[in-house]
Amino acid sequence: MPTKRIGIIGGTGLTRLEGPQITQVHDVNTVLGTPSSSVQQGTWNGCEVLFMARHGHPHALPPHKVNYRANLLALQELGADAIIAVNAVGGIHADMDAGAIVIPHQLVDLTWGRESTYFDGSYKPLEHIDFTDPFDADIRQHLLGAAAKLQLPVSDFGVVAVTQGPRLETTAEIDYLERIGCDVVGMTSMPEAVLARELGIPYASVCLVVNPAAGRSDAVITMEDIQRVLDAGMGQVRDLIEAALPAV
Ligand code: HPA
Repeated sequence: MPTKRIGIIGGTGLTRLEGPQITQVHDVNTVLGTPSSSVQQGTWNGCEVLFMARHGHPHALPPHKVNYRANLLALQELGADAIIAVNAVGGIHADMDAGAIVIPHQLVDLTWGRESTYFDGSYKPLEHIDFTDPFDADIRQHLLGAAAKLQLPVSDFGVVAVTQGPRLETTAEIDYLERIGCDVVGMTSMPEAVLARELGIPYASVCLVVNPAAGRSDAVITMEDIQRVLDAGMGQVRDLIEAALPAV
C-alpha cells in the first residue's frame, strides 16, 4: 500500500516542527491565493508529512486574515490524505486548565466574514455537505490511542467554540459559551475543519489549553503566561502526533 501523507497544520506556538527529516520545501500558489507559509515535506516516524504554519512564519497572520481556503487547497494539491491540526485554546470546562490537551469531538462556529466554503458557485458547484461530526472519528481514536500508549493524560471529548478574535472574550461571553455546552474556546478551527470536509480530507485537531478562558481565573490573561504554557506543552503535542502518525 502506498504511504499515506499526513498534513499537519501548526498553530500558535508551533510554527516550525522539530522531528521530521525535511526532504522538500514547497512554495505553493493556489487558484484561491497564497497559503500562510511554505509547506515542509518530510518523513517522521516512518510516515510522510506535510507541515504548514497557519499563522505564517514568523507568526504574523491573525486568525481572521488566514487564507484557510488556500491552505487546505495547497495541502490537497501536495497529496495530503489526512490532516492533524494543532490549536491553542482557552479552557472553559473546569477540568481543562492551562496545559491540558483536548481532542475535541464537536465545535460551535461563531466566526464571521471569513471565506468559509469552496461551494460558492465559482470554485465548485453548490453542495450542502454533512458536517454532523466535524472531526474525523478514526484520527481522533488514533490520537487517543497514542496518548494512552504514552501515558499522556488527554481529554477524549471537547466542544470547541470558535470565536472571531483576535481579541479574547468577555466573562459574559464565556459564561454564555459554557451554557451552550462549549468546553474550550479558540479562533482557528473554523473554517479550517469544514474546508477539509469539503475537500474530502479527514481532519482532526489537537487542542492545547494555554490559558483559563476569560473570568475562569482571577489573573489577567497575558501573552507572557500563554507563551510559558506553549513552551511547556507543545513538546507533548509533538510527541502525541509523532506517536499517532503510523496509525493515521
Ligand atoms: N479565547 C480564544 N482563543 C484563544 C484563547 C482564548 O481564551 N486562548 C488561546 N486561544
